[in-house]
Amino acid sequence: MRFSEEFLDELRFRNDIQSVISPYVALKPAGRTMVGLCPFHNEKTPSFTVYLENQSYYCFGCGAGGDCITFIKNAENLDYTEAVRYLAEKSGLALPVDSYDDTVSRLRHRIYEMNRAAARFYYVMLTGQNGEKAQNYVLKRGLSPETCKKFGIGFAPDQWDSLVRHLKNAGFSEDELVTASLARKAKNGGLIDVFRNRLMFPVIDLRGNVIAFSGRVFDDKDPNAPKYINSPETLVYKKSQVLYALNFAKNNNDKKLILCEGNMDVIALHQAGFTNAVAAMGTSFTPGHAKLLANYADEVLLAYDGDAAGQKAVNKVISILETTHIKTKVIKMVGGKDPDEIIRTHGKERMRDILNGAVNDTEFRLSQAEAGLDLTSPDGKVNYLNNAVAVLASLKNPMERDIYITKISSDLDVLKPAISEMVEKEIKQRKNRSERTIFTDIQKQITGHPNIAGTEKAFNAKTKRAEEALIRSVLQNPDFCKKLEPFIRPELFFSEIHKKLYFNIAQKIKNNQKLELTYFAGELTAAEMNVLSRLVNDKTLLSNTLQECMDCIAALNAEKGKTSSPNIVELDDEGFRELFKKASK
Ligand code: UTP
Ligand code: MN
Repeated sequence: MRFSEEFLDELRFRNDIQSVISPYVALKPAGRTMVGLCPFHNEKTPSFTVYLENQSYYCFGCGAGGDCITFIKNAENLDYTEAVRYLAEKSGLALPVDSYDDTVSRLRHRIYEMNRAAARFYYVMLTGQNGEKAQNYVLKRGLSPETCKKFGIGFAPDQWDSLVRHLKNAGFSEDELVTASLARKAKNGGLIDVFRNRLMFPVIDLRGNVIAFSGRVFDDKDPNAPKYINSPETLVYKKSQVLYALNFAKNNNDKKLILCEGNMDVIALHQAGFTNAVAAMGTSFTPGHAKLLANYADEVLLAYDGDAAGQKAVNKVISILETTHIKTKVIKMVGGKDPDEIIRTHGKERMRDILNGAVNDTEFRLSQAEAGLDLTSPDGKVNYLNNAVAVLASLKNPMERDIYITKISSDLDVLKPAISEMVEKEIKQRKNRSERTIFTDIQKQITGHPNIAGTEKAFNAKTKRAEEALIRSVLQNPDFCKKLEPFIRPELFFSEIHKKLYFNIAQKIKNNQKLELTYFAGELTAAEMNVLSRLVNDKTLLSNTLQECMDCIAALNAEKGKTSSPNIVELDDEGFRELFKKASK
């Protein structure tokens, strides 16, 4: 959807960047900018910067950037048009007639309605007379009727299209059912239910909307059926932004959450009185989940399965949670493979003891480092030390590091300076490594695109600088654009993002359009917007003279030559200056 420049002008004027961002981020003045903790990635020191002079923001930690519309898009998880409408409504600005296409938000609303109707249908089916087999399974799993009601547990009948028929009767179209991922086209062209003959667990978001389902098999009719089927991502369901049962668990006041692997564990824990349990649904734990946890918890107890896969997952979760302020503890799963089993076989008191006995993440990882090794033998000691050094090197707090080094030194009877030296060496080697991978993950989540860092790595620092300089130069000196035109072809750019930015800016200059970020927000992807915002704001990138632009072009051509791209005319700096002189006459 395109909005007129006049409308965007007014929107920008009424929605000062500071007032748009401050409900989400506590901002502190820093010179001519404001800084705060980035709302888009986990961090402990502020790198999120708001620029009042050009009404934009940029995060030096994760690379997220843009204008007020981009911010609302990402913070409220809206599309471009919805974000414009949000800001317009907030500031009492009427939307231009015919300019607002609300197809997406209407559809989103329909999906919520469909999901709610489906959840109600499944619930009625469980309690109804055909639900007997499913009821027996629920009883076998020890779930009370109250628990079923609280979590909206239901039953998808053993029929091809019972939900399809029900929802069509309720006035939903076939297209809508497919969009909601509740039904799919069968080979014969008819519509069939996605969930059939399964125990159903609705996934509910923090506003109480049903956003997805997880369905578990409960009989052995089809031995090859996957144990769980989960809704795929839809307009209303982003897996890495949802934790199962957080809608209940967030109401605990002590800022402690229990993170489990499965929804059955969560339900069993809640039923046993541990109402602060949550789980990542149908996907592994992501930085997005960590961000969500950090909003509600200072401490997280990890209650993953005791098997090898569970313990491996714990290590990953710990490394992700390390980027937040959260204190992590790990539960030792004894007497059962998961919390649900422990509660059912040993009762909730036992579960309480286990939760109370959770060890901190460092102790957990050090005990893992020891697994299978004989610490009385020199070989065993060396292997353990190598493993332990990796754990110790990941500790951010030097005091904590020192405490464990001292402990290991005395336990193993090895001199402390020897261990310290190994740890220091390891720290140097891995500096930034883990954080970079996490940021890359975050980028992907925010932008939904291959991360910027990845794209930038694809070409060298010289071409990156040259391309950035060209973009910044034309932004600051629109008159350069025409002069450079004969020398700049799309193939000149190594980065797809830079290419798109340069030609988008050049087009705007040609059409005499404005160059503030707000006018780009409707045309650029989130990843492109991030880069543009950095180029506009990073004062360490100096803008260039026309001559320097020509040097950049020459440098890019020279690099193209090296990569032996076919249709590039090879010209050295001299050759370019010649051409340039001719063109500027
Ligand atoms: P588990 O196999 O450990 O199941 O998978 P569980 O939670 O103990 O469930 P019960 O007790 O057997 O009923 C853990 C989680 O992994 C996901 C589900 O979210 C599940 O809760 N999972 C598992 C799937 O998404 N698909 C599968 O086929 C299996
Ligand atoms: Mn289980």
